[in-house]
Amino acid sequence: MTWRASVLTIFPELFPGPLAASLAGKALAAGIWSCEAIDIRKFAADKHRTVDDTPAGGGPGMVLKADVLARAIDAAAPAGDPRPRILLTPRGRPLTQSRVRALAEGPGVVVVCGRFEGVDQRIVEARSLEEISIGDYVLSGGEVAAYVLLDACARLLPGVMGEDASKAEESFEAGLLEYPQYTKPQVFEGRAIPDVLLSGDHGKVAAWRRAEAERATRERRPDLARRKGPERE
Ligand code: ADE
Repeated sequence: MTWRASVLTIFPELFPGPLAASLAGKALAAGIWSCEAIDIRKFAADKHRTVDDTPAGGGPGMVLKADVLARAIDAAAPAGDPRPRILLTPRGRPLTQSRVRALAEGPGVVVVCGRFEGVDQRIVEARSLEEISIGDYVLSGGEVAAYVLLDACARLLPGVMGEDASKAEESFEAGLLEYPQYTKPQVFEGRAIPDVLLSGDHGKVAAWRRAEAERATRERRPDLARRKGPERE
């Protein structure tokens, strides 16, 4: 069955965009998943197609209107649609590989791309939206975050990646950064591939990679290194 993504946005022309290329794009063309863009503006009630208004309480920017979003969400995902509904916003819980895996195992997603200074918070409660952030920085809208979320899910769908590729992220999923990789030529601008990788000793190679992964994790991501066991993300 096709994994279905419905993306609600005021820029529907941005989809599938970069998701039409590479691994995700091949899977899209093969019908392993689908990506439907829904123009929020079509659900505006007035002739100016207004989707936003000034924030209650004052302040800068504009807020996406709950009534317009409700109509768009109800059209994209009528009652009984089993797909989780996600709002992409820097206010959300951080996206993790385990959440991506769970989403990829389900029927698909309905993704609302936030814009402007935010969305009317009442839509989050009224339509049970799960607020997700892709990182501690502010994008100009949720569209680029939607690319990130959908790419991460698409590559995990059955038949998209080979066994080898999925093996390559096991250490990441176990809470370690990847070990460094090398390929030919053996010497590049005076820098040689580490001898151990050319030794043919699989045990030594594995031990070296493990040590390098642990070192990178300690140096770059002490937050990950502090965690132990299967709860690592
Ligand atoms: N919209 C703006 N910034 C975002 C972020 N960091 N994550 C998800 N959606 C966003």
